Amino acid sequence: RSSTKLNILEIDGVPLLLLSKEMWDEICNFPARPDDLILATYPKSGTTWMQEILDMIQNDGDVKKCKRGGPLERYPFLELKFPHKEKKDLEIALEMSSPRLIKTHLPSHLVPPSIWKENCKIIYVARNAKDCLVSYYHFHRMTSLLYDPQNLEEFYEEFMSGKVVYGSWFDHVKGWWAAKDTHQILYLFYEDIKKNPKQEILKVLKFLEKTLSDDVINKIIHHTSFDVMKHNPMANQSSVPSHIFDHSISKFMRKGMPGDWKNHFTVAMNENFDKYYEKRMAETTLTFCTEI
Ligand code: PPS
Repeated sequence: RSSTKLNILEIDGVPLLLLSKEMWDEICNFPARPDDLILATYPKSGTTWMQEILDMIQNDGDVKKCKRGGPLERYPFLELKFPHKEKKDLEIALEMSSPRLIKTHLPSHLVPPSIWKENCKIIYVARNAKDCLVSYYHFHRMTSLLYDPQNLEEFYEEFMSGKVVYGSWFDHVKGWWAAKDTHQILYLFYEDIKKNPKQEILKVLKFLEKTLSDDVINKIIHHTSFDVMKHNPMANQSSVPSHIFDHSISKFMRKGMPGDWKNHFTVAMNENFDKYYEKRMAETTLTFCTEI
């Protein structure tokens, strides 16, 4: 596989894909605006799915408008500089008119302080760790931005020890869970959206103080379903150059359902995972479902 690997710099112990320390300073000084909507997730938790839902909401269900570009063209990804783009996404964000929707995978303690100061609305989507791990593994295989793991066992060790890019899943989901008590954060779960998209879309609408007719909501559910997004070139990430996302190795829209970990984990991996999970999640009220 040809490599366009980006630098990995550790910030506060969290490995991030950054060009330089200077770029990190720019991110820290990013001037958020009060009407920015931030979409925060740990990688592979349903970011692209929620982006599509939010775009449909912001465009009142106008599918044509939502096909104006691929997900990475429509929304800036706060901390990334894609090799195929001339500018950093942060620079693109600075030039955008309001209201902006900004994607980030940063843990809560690393987001630019202006996001808290401006009291921006934040939607956080969490996904159960086992499926996140499997999805992240296949993503590593297909993208040249990240290293190519030898096998799932190797990646499992990296993921469990929090050495992967964006660090520990456990710290990420717990950090944002704690942050929601003091900030405007709507904390959603991938598995809930899958199970009852209407209920979760209504939560988003309430959070955004917006109303839409039942017809539009049903249109959003249809347009953002896995099967429709998978076949929509403006949603399935096929607009990213193939030397960056190689869909012939693994599709970005891969399985799109909870429970695929069962096809990947060995009994030993699962037992080890459950033990570690219990230890790391003992002191939180946050709970996850691993299947529907
Ligand atoms: S990224 O690269 O971090 O932004 O990836 P992200 O978009 O967060 O996650 C990708 C996974 O989400 C699945 N996906 C969906 N699932 C259900 N319904 C819809 N509409 C949908 N769209 C994307 C995608 O298939 C990846 O999960 P896996 O398990 O690999 O299939």
